[in-house]
Amino acid sequence: MPNNFLIYGANGYTGELITRYAVERGMTPVLAGRNAIAVESLAKKHHLDYRVFSLDEGYLIDQSLQNVDAVLHCAGPFSLTSRPMVEACLRNKKHYTDITGEIAVFEKMARLDRQAQDAGIMIMPGVGFDVVPTDCLAKHLKDRLPTATHLTLAFYGMGRLSHGTQATMTMNVGQGGAIRKDGKITRVPAAWKTREIDFGEVTKLGVTIPWGDVATAWYSTGIPNIEVYTVVPAKQLKLIKLSRYLGWLLATAPIQQRLQRQIPAGGPSDDERAKGKTLLWGQAEDLNGNRVESRMTAPEGYTTTALAALNIMQKILDGNFTPGFQTPARAYGADLILEIDGVARQDVV
Ligand SMILES: NC(=O)c1ccc[n+]([C@@H]2O[C@H](COP(=O)([O-])OP(=O)(O)OC[C@H]3O[C@@H](n4cnc5c(N)ncnc54)[C@H](OP(=O)(O)O)[C@@H]3O)[C@@H](O)[C@H]2O)c1
Repeated sequence: MPNNFLIYGANGYTGELITRYAVERGMTPVLAGRNAIAVESLAKKHHLDYRVFSLDEGYLIDQSLQNVDAVLHCAGPFSLTSRPMVEACLRNKKHYTDITGEIAVFEKMARLDRQAQDAGIMIMPGVGFDVVPTDCLAKHLKDRLPTATHLTLAFYGMGRLSHGTQATMTMNVGQGGAIRKDGKITRVPAAWKTREIDFGEVTKLGVTIPWGDVATAWYSTGIPNIEVYTVVPAKQLKLIKLSRYLGWLLATAPIQQRLQRQIPAGGPSDDERAKGKTLLWGQAEDLNGNRVESRMTAPEGYTTTALAALNIMQKILDGNFTPGFQTPARAYGADLILEIDGVARQDVV
């Protein structure tokens, strides 16, 4: 077996960061992407093998997967890019991972469960900050309260967003919010609910967002009612609420093109990442009024993304995987996140 993996979108902000961390820990991923100059120069810098192909070149994708066991797909928005890559992984019997946070993508991947089992491969979307920390927190809360029927998760990320994250958020701006209700993903207005969240070192106003856990925590815990909150500045909260009425307009092609052009390239610097951190909080309740609550601190979001994705990839390469569609915590347990330096978890109630 080749015992190696391919990073697609390696020249993007997150792909490049993951590449750097991978090399630091002695991994030798094959780098890939559609931009020949950028991919080649990154590969040369790190003395790595590389492949250049776009996602509509099925034959080249197949060829490029021959010498690897797994893919770490870093080219988003994944609602536009995941399908050709996961189909190639199924065809070639290679494990598929990505760093999506998009609910629709998780749900599409979940529907490939049987095909992945038949191919003997694992499909695990969301191996980054979205959703590894919150997925592990969800599983931890479920382990603490097996009768839980309601799950509330929240995170407070202190740091700048990358180009791709902003591009993906901008693309989805017209879609409103989402929660899981009675086991079903249910559309709600943008910024549907707000609540005070006690993160331990600070209390902040949280607002509901359509975060990946609305999809994944259901598979990891079976809890049928899920809401996810994050903290946004007051000015941004007003804009999100405004998108309830103007979302359709913001989603039109000319406005999208304009908004997408204004997003700056790159993401947080190494220094910003080193100074940043994330706070997480979660609560599970059952119908008898039992309640458990836990908190977590983790490194800055993009650092956590790179470390979580590589920890999972290393397990896959070591033969530690479960065929089919998987979520991080379902496959590797609630303590997966504790393998990252700087992560701490505390049970409050
Ligand atoms: N789960 C998480 O916590 C997490 C963390 C970080 C990022 N993300 C997500 O990851 C994605 C990338 O973010 P980023 O900031 O790294 O983005 P970025 O800096 O804009 O880089 C995007 C990369 O994807 C490639 N790409 C985009 N569309 C493509 C397409 N249609 N076909 C082939 N390649 C394509 C780009 O290639 P070109 O250079 O050729 O355009 C580039 O290599 C975003 O969707 C973001 O939301 C998620």
